[in-house]
Amino acid sequence: MDQREQVTIYEVGPRDGLQFESQFFPTDRKIELINLLSASGLKKIEATSFVHPKAVPQLRDAAEVMARIDKQAGVTYSVLVPNLKGCQAALASRADEFTLFVSASPTHNRKNVGMSIADSLAGFPEIARLASEAGKSLRGYVITAFGCPYEGAVSLDNVRRIMEVYARLGVREASLGDTTGMANPPQVQRLVAELRRGFPEVNLAAHFHDSRGTGLVNTYAAFAAGVRVFDSSIGGLGGCPFAKGAAGNVPTEDTVNLCEEMGLDTGVDFDKLLQAAALVREVLGRELASGTSRVGRPRWSPGGQGESHCLPA
Ligand code: HMG
Ligand code: MG
Repeated sequence: MDQREQVTIYEVGPRDGLQFESQFFPTDRKIELINLLSASGLKKIEATSFVHPKAVPQLRDAAEVMARIDKQAGVTYSVLVPNLKGCQAALASRADEFTLFVSASPTHNRKNVGMSIADSLAGFPEIARLASEAGKSLRGYVITAFGCPYEGAVSLDNVRRIMEVYARLGVREASLGDTTGMANPPQVQRLVAELRRGFPEVNLAAHFHDSRGTGLVNTYAAFAAGVRVFDSSIGGLGGCPFAKGAAGNVPTEDTVNLCEEMGLDTGVDFDKLLQAAALVREVLGRELASGTSRVGRPRWSPGGQGESHCLPA
């Protein structure tokens, strides 16, 4: 039996990744991508968003995507839900988990969803009630948890206020978003320690964007502080279209590699993950940000013998 400690890789590529692409990723290819990701052993996949199609045109096919993916047993497919209208659309879909989101920065929240933080939070209880009646689990983002591209430092009180609402509504997991890669490792350790102490009932996840090359070092800092769920995106795609300086999430391939090299069990089959990366590269017609999919896993890793662990030329 595998005695290694398990960690969860929470794949956000189909949502965070594709929302930021300038070209529309065709619906059939999105479905193919999600199916390949499910086949790779990933157990959590953020599949799409039920937001306004004019705000995020890349995900305007959310209902069709959710209707046509091959859902695998044991895989949780989550969707972003900003408000009641999004919740109704999510309820009509086959989503397993609804993900709330609100920014700790008032300026960014307004740019993102056109509301104050208080108005975002005021809409959540009804969504939580409907989700719970329908047997859906709840996840929640604290966006700009480590800093805002417009305001700079964010108020810890705002972060706590959001966490309090999540805890009260039974949100099972809160993901701390470093929306534009402003976090540093000591800061990550301090915030995680503070929130683990204050909200022991809410599992914490880490969601790092790599605008400044600090994504994986922050992932390690979050791990050292006790986090065991890491959001990442296939090929390192991603970014919030409403945040200045947005860039991709930490790549899933590199996150899986880091965790496995550290002796952790991600449950992900790396070769199968590369099939998903190959599809993304083919559709977008460009090299991906993931180093591991270019040069492969280290040679001493199981199966890490070079070519079979690199994308085909
Ligand atoms: P709004 O325009 O303020 O909404 O949009 P409204 O309530 O005023 O309604 C206006 C119209 O929009 C109405 O239609 C509504 O029906 C419609 P009309 O009567 O005029 O024909 N409407 C909707 N249509 C479809 N889906 C909906 C919906 N709601 C209202 N859900 C809204 C508010 C939140 C919808 C809009 O601002 C929006 O869609 N924003 C997009 C936000 C977004 O997706 N941001 C990116 C994700 S967050 C992120 O990336 C960060 C994260 O990764 C973490 C991190 O990195 O830190 C999560
Ligand atoms: Mg994000």
